[in-house]
Amino acid sequence: MAVHLGDVAPDFTAETTEGTVSFHDWIGDSWAILFSHPKDFTPVCTTELGAFAKAKPEFDRRNTKLIGLSVDPVDSHRDWAKDIEDTQGQALNFPVIGDPDHKVADLYDMIHPNALDTLTVRSVFIIGPDKKVKLTLTYPASTGRNVAEILRVLDSLQLTADYQVSTPVNWNDGDDVIIAPAIPDEEAKVKFPKGFRTLRPYLRLTPQPNR
Ligand code: BEZ
Repeated sequence: MAVHLGDVAPDFTAETTEGTVSFHDWIGDSWAILFSHPKDFTPVCTTELGAFAKAKPEFDRRNTKLIGLSVDPVDSHRDWAKDIEDTQGQALNFPVIGDPDHKVADLYDMIHPNALDTLTVRSVFIIGPDKKVKLTLTYPASTGRNVAEILRVLDSLQLTADYQVSTPVNWNDGDDVIIAPAIPDEEAKVKFPKGFRTLRPYLRLTPQPNR
């Protein structure tokens, strides 16, 4: 069944390259990113896992854990990890789930048979400390993901979880944000003491409040 925004992320216990993981316990008080790749020992996937591993300090800084997945078994992930380190110059530093029986892939609807027969597509689920799904992305096998975009959207999700704001098109951490239209001007003056610009009554911009 499809997993929708706002749903509680399905819980599971699975074998990973770092031992058995009980998903919700493993998330704990952190944010988490569960992402699938189609197959071990394939080119785009090799670049993706290397890039996510390189960016791990950035995810750590955002209190966010990474966990990968494909329908290959854990032994295959471990063998492939040597190639990732050799070719991408970065060792894997987060767990990768082995899911040969598709248990987790089916829970998260990661197999799209019209795209790839029995392999997982490139799914991304960002999950909050409340274990609810905050963002989903789906890419085809032919298109590698963009780590910078995933960090960017994580910044937006974490900011908008704490403040009554939203982030405009192409927003990056540090840019002005939009005050929720439901907040009256008088209240906005108190909540956003750095001030705001009113372009339209429904479009008011303020400096990022947590900076
Ligand atoms: C790749 O990672 O390059 C890939 C994986 C599965 C199917 C096609 C391409």
